[in-house]
Amino acid sequence: MRFEELGLSPEVLRAVADAGYIEPTPIQEKAIPVALQGRDLLGIAQTGTGKTAAFTLPMIDILMGGKAKARMPRSLILAPTRELATQTAENFEIYGKYHPLTMALLIGGVSIAEQERALNRGVDVLIATPGRFLDLHERGKILLVGVKILVIDEADRMLDMGFIPDVERIVRMLPPLRQTLFFAATMSAEIRRLADAFLQNPKEASVDPPASPAEMVSHVLTMVSPRDKQKALRRLLDGDLVKNGLIFCNRKREVDALNRSLKSHGFESAGLHGDMPQPARTATLEAFKRGEVRFLVATDVAGRGLDIYGLSHVFNFDVPTHAEDYIHRIGRTGRAGHRGRAITLATPDDAKFVAAIKRLIGREIPSIEIAGLTARPSATAAAAAGEEVGGAPAPAKRAASRRGGRSRSRRAARGADAAPKGADAAPAKRAPCAAEDQDQHRQAAAAAEDRDQPRKAARGGEKGGRPRKNAGAAEASSAFGVGGQVPAFLRRPAQPSEK
Ligand SMILES: Nc1ncnc2c1ncn2[C@@H]1O[C@H](COP(=O)(O)OP(=O)(O)OP(=O)(O)O)[C@@H](O)[C@H]1O
Ligand SMILES: [Mg+2]
Repeated sequence: MRFEELGLSPEVLRAVADAGYIEPTPIQEKAIPVALQGRDLLGIAQTGTGKTAAFTLPMIDILMGGKAKARMPRSLILAPTRELATQTAENFEIYGKYHPLTMALLIGGVSIAEQERALNRGVDVLIATPGRFLDLHERGKILLVGVKILVIDEADRMLDMGFIPDVERIVRMLPPLRQTLFFAATMSAEIRRLADAFLQNPKEASVDPPASPAEMVSHVLTMVSPRDKQKALRRLLDGDLVKNGLIFCNRKREVDALNRSLKSHGFESAGLHGDMPQPARTATLEAFKRGEVRFLVATDVAGRGLDIYGLSHVFNFDVPTHAEDYIHRIGRTGRAGHRGRAITLATPDDAKFVAAIKRLIGREIPSIEIAGLTARPSATAAAAAGEEVGGAPAPAKRAASRRGGRSRSRRAARGADAAPKGADAAPAKRAPCAAEDQDQHRQAAAAAEDRDQPRKAARGGEKGGRPRKNAGAAEASSAFGVGGQVPAFLRRPAQPSEK
């Protein structure tokens, strides 16, 4: 199908052509005509398949018909992180370049006065994180009667961050006669419930099975002992196919520790997490996007929605403890038809998280060996994950040692926003939001915007490291070898133009 067949205006089509898009992606094909009809929409498609344009392009045309009034935004887009909100605003600039739509970006950590000024001028599109939105609303700076379109992007991440009570509160403030567009890359029962609550008679535009990793990402796993993790990572980073990489850790302090260690070993790296001041967050991400920093060590604050052109690799230094995060993390690469690669470092103790990921995606993750560093799954850990080791039933031996408590549920972790900023402690379950609790919830969630990783993670960081070896190409490729063989997908460097 061609973009011209979707019902978009000539101005939007020109902007799309300028962006270099030749044809719509499947989600765009399905979603755009529905959105243009004014219907509610539930859009599900794999990471990196153009969901942003699927809601942005029709919005631009719908909003062209009216004019913004002071403090009365005509549409609202809610995003879970500041980085994602910023990126969505950038997309509006790209696609809306031939339309004089006004826009305001309301995110925490930057001057509220400037945001107030933008609101006072009147905006067509308001892009916000829930915390800052509620702050400004409470100050009487936003009147919501004019909102005709609501977009909720990455709703599942909002759920993880404890933002849903805020989102529900915001939705209740909006005029009931509106269009709601709801987008996600993975679908869960909770997300379905929210979609049912927020959407009216929606059309579902679902492109993939509800939990499938992007097809363009080749992903493998390697088993190492906790003690060897940093060394294993360094070996992988030295691989000659690695142009750049996003390295995920489960905890903020681990981001800092790993980043320091990588730097001390001569790698150009930077860290990104929610405890950093916003200007540093923005500058770091921009430097990485521009290619000035080769490796970005991050928490899941960078796990959703971020579109980093030409990212060759994703590394999971820690196995994500929520299976869905795996899909989103590895989906930072392999976007817009380009090829991507992801490698997860797992320790024997991670067996149950690995098993949960495999269950979610419905398939095995191929293993690779790193010469001299590969560990065997421990029998007890594998047994905990419901697997057998070596075909024999798992013996009831001593439990594998654990670094830090890992036995907290996802549900419990979600309540982390009630804890103080930066808390890594296991949070309590968040109760449904009663009216009198709203303020407290809002404040907690606004703070949680910065606590990108509220869920208590499994393991402490490994410190230090030996001086960096001059790892040559031979060592690098052996690091990717399986039984001496290099998997085919790791042999070729990722090309931006690869399809
Ligand atoms: N029709 C198209 N043709 C080519 N590239 C496109 C097209 N639509 C979008 N893109 C590009 O695809 C990339 C990914 O788009 P986008 O960020 O919207 O993905 P997404 O589906 O929202 O992913 P995620 O689930 O990770 O949020 C962007 O770089 C965007 O410019
Ligand atoms: Mg997206």
